[in-house]
Amino acid sequence: MPVRTTRRRGQCGGDQQSAAVGSAGSAAKVALLTEKYGYDAAFNYKDGPVREQLAALVPEGVDVYFDNVGGDHLQAALDVMRDGGRLALCGAIAGYNSTEPPAGPDNLANVITRGLTIKGFTLGGYLHLAPEFTERMTGWFAAGKIAYDETVVDGIEHTVDAFLDMMRGANTGKMLVRVDAVPA
Ligand SMILES: NC(=O)c1ccc[n+]([C@@H]2O[C@H](COP(=O)([O-])OP(=O)(O)OC[C@H]3O[C@@H](n4cnc5c(N)ncnc54)[C@H](OP(=O)(O)O)[C@@H]3O)[C@@H](O)[C@H]2O)c1
Repeated sequence: MPVRTTRRRGQCGGDQQSAAVGSAGSAAKVALLTEKYGYDAAFNYKDGPVREQLAALVPEGVDVYFDNVGGDHLQAALDVMRDGGRLALCGAIAGYNSTEPPAGPDNLANVITRGLTIKGFTLGGYLHLAPEFTERMTGWFAAGKIAYDETVVDGIEHTVDAFLDMMRGANTGKMLVRVDAVPA
């Protein structure tokens, strides 16, 4: 389930002063966001324009946007960012299967007028923080603060199907392929 203002602060980045809004592609996943993962509000991006749905949920705007989607979600976020807001770009799954060049956001000027900061990143650029992550996440797990789901597909021969299903949203939580133990 890729924030969109959104995904994943639900559990790891929360504090008492902030609220998190998430999006997902089914009613069942939307329910998980608020009932299991700690989001304050969520919407189904397939129910209507993301721009309209997000704006309705955040009338006072957004300070931090975590992007796993790009496309319509990034554009919707740029609409509602508050002055000085920050956008972390992690993924752009909305465009991965496009056969045409994806349309750019039509509201990039908001970056100028609202003094926004956009920063992209990949996991590989932050491996030096892995020990700190492990320490923090281990503590959160031990304290029972982390809820999660996994979708497990058996057999390495089904890896491609699992990958395609992940792109289509068939997974809930991390999509994993279980490989039989290698005989000794
Ligand atoms: N920067 C990095 O180092 C890094 C590393 C790994 C992954 N990523 C990125 O992180 C994102 C999440 O990847 P993940 O591996 O953790 O898998 P994931 O969260 O399970 O992402 C797959 C989910 O994306 C959703 N999705 C598919 N098409 C969509 C669309 N057009 N609009 C909105 N949501 C869509 C589907 O859920 P729904 O049912 O909700 O549609 C699907 O279950 C991806 O963008 C990926 O490229 C970045």
